[in-house]
Amino acid sequence: MSQRPTTLADRWSADILAAAPQHGGDRQQAIEAHGLVKHFGDIHAVNGIDLRVPPGQIFGFLGQNGSGKTTTVRMLTTLLRPTEGAANVAGYNVLTQDRQVRRAIGVALQEAGLDILQTGRELLRLQSRLYNVPRGEIESRIAHLLDVVDLTEDADRRIEGYSGGMQRRLDLASALVHSPSIIFLDEPTTGLDPISRQNLWDYIVRLNREDGVTFFLTTQYLEEADQLCDEIAILDAGEIVQQGTPDQLKATVSADVIYVQVEGDERAQQRAVSALLPLPNVEDANWDFNEGIAVYSKSGHDTLPRVVRTLDDERLPFSNLRLARATLDDVFFKATGHRIEPGDGAAQPTQAGSA
Ligand SMILES: Nc1ncnc2c1ncn2[C@@H]1O[C@H](COP(=O)(O)OP(=O)(O)O)[C@@H](O)[C@H]1O
Ligand SMILES: [Mg+2]
Repeated sequence: MSQRPTTLADRWSADILAAAPQHGGDRQQAIEAHGLVKHFGDIHAVNGIDLRVPPGQIFGFLGQNGSGKTTTVRMLTTLLRPTEGAANVAGYNVLTQDRQVRRAIGVALQEAGLDILQTGRELLRLQSRLYNVPRGEIESRIAHLLDVVDLTEDADRRIEGYSGGMQRRLDLASALVHSPSIIFLDEPTTGLDPISRQNLWDYIVRLNREDGVTFFLTTQYLEEADQLCDEIAILDAGEIVQQGTPDQLKATVSADVIYVQVEGDERAQQRAVSALLPLPNVEDANWDFNEGIAVYSKSGHDTLPRVVRTLDDERLPFSNLRLARATLDDVFFKATGHRIEPGDGAAQPTQAGSA
């Protein structure tokens, strides 16, 4: 077969065939890890992670700060040696074939390592040469990428004048210059304003659908994982505590949640919770100072009128009664015992940022 591969997906398969790993295992997996462990002295950052990400998937690692996301990404991208375990990326062993792995992947780390005295365009040129992008293609590809990350107008300014969000977008563009088949994005939208975030999501989806690019992304944002990912692993203290498609994960918690604000002090709230818990189909009920009472039910439509009757019977005045579908937030809470709260300098995605 002398036909040249054209799409990224073709090139991926070609890479795999060329690599032809002899272990006879899952060479079709884009990313595969067995028992990955990383300890930094006493700190057990990653505690035995197994992964199988098929080509063409958008796989998400969802976890709060310190759960081990970056450490895992660094091991999978050959930047950090695992304490234990093994991983193959694009069919290559991350320990013994690190050069091949690096050629097959693109990486945008959480901390963009940019030379701020360069202009954005200069940085992308340098990156293109490092990756042996054919000379004749460099300028047009850079123009396209700048357009995609919305930096065309700022391309010839020095990076030192870029906002944090602009730097993140440039870093992403630089991870894409060599058209990698697998892209690792470590918290790609942390610190981005809502519009840049949406643009980036759209672009990830486009690269995935049109070119078959596999994505491994980490996030602290439930909404991001829900919208983008085909499969999500919830990471807590260096371990995967839950994994599945967004729908599968949501199916692990009660289908519906009824929210209601009950008037009165904490004792009134506790009385309400105690009265609501025994209702048919109710699996859990709790009170939160901000959210009010949440009643988790297998069948919200049956439970809703009973909630009303029960609170009336208890003579507890209430307002803001509403029925919602369970969200990934509820899944995360059930799997880890805490609510995810993006932090450590990570701007809330709902805030209008200055990116
Ligand atoms: N180079 C390092 N030396 C020591 N501890 C580290 C190092 N890198 C990460 N850690 C620790 O490992 C844990 C996981 O960190 P990290 O992988 O960065 O989590 P995340 O990306 O999910 O926020 C944290 O407790 C962090 O402080
Ligand atoms: Mg991190």
